Amino acid sequence: MIAINPVDLPPRDAYRLMTSVIVPRPIAWVSTIGNDGSRNLAPFSFFNGIGGNPPTLMISVGLRKGQPKDTLRNVQENGEFVVNMVSEDLGPQMNLTAGEYDYEVDEFALAGLTAAPCDLVKPPRVAEAGVAMECRASQLVQVTDTTYTVIFGRILRFHIREGLLRPDGLIDANALRPLARLGGDQYATLSPTFDMPRPS
Ligand SMILES: Cc1cc2nc3c(=O)[nH]c(=O)nc-3n(C[C@H](O)[C@H](O)[C@H](O)COP(=O)(O)O)c2cc1C
Repeated sequence: MIAINPVDLPPRDAYRLMTSVIVPRPIAWVSTIGNDGSRNLAPFSFFNGIGGNPPTLMISVGLRKGQPKDTLRNVQENGEFVVNMVSEDLGPQMNLTAGEYDYEVDEFALAGLTAAPCDLVKPPRVAEAGVAMECRASQLVQVTDTTYTVIFGRILRFHIREGLLRPDGLIDANALRPLARLGGDQYATLSPTFDMPRPS
């Protein structure tokens, strides 16, 4: 076995190593809106669900050149965001929205995506996404010794494309075809799923 002390690595290499170990990661495609009306859309793979009742998720957003990324700025302004799920066919558009654009740039327009209105929050959802979750931030936590802020959000509304919700109340992952992020520029798609009932 190779033992590596991350402290001995340049920060970028420690980041690259970690993100190639913790795989596959789901991708939150996060839409937000500034108080001036600027729309924003960007992907985040430091993303997961963290509790079920009420359904709560998290994304972790780093700084860019010492300043909050647009997503964090908008959530700091009004606490609202939408997590859109990225399916395989939306990979190229998702990637386009990861560019470091000026605050005023509308990534919906840039990537040729349709902004659909939400029910309870101001940011629009991505109409092309099979599932979107309207969220309200419940906590913003600046993580000690890092440049990251974790945004915890309560899910207020699910939007699910017809045909994706199975009769048992689960999303049909084989129909959703989620894209996952690996290390560097690598991505993965879902291989055939299988069931493994838990011991009673
Ligand atoms: C698949 C993917 C996942 C990403 N995950 C994260 C992440 O978890 N945290 C982060 O700070 N940046 C992440 N990024 C980079 C941001 O998407 C990028 O910095 C983007 O420009 C931020 O946009 P914003 O300033 O409009 O918020 C990721 C990029 C890609 C392509």
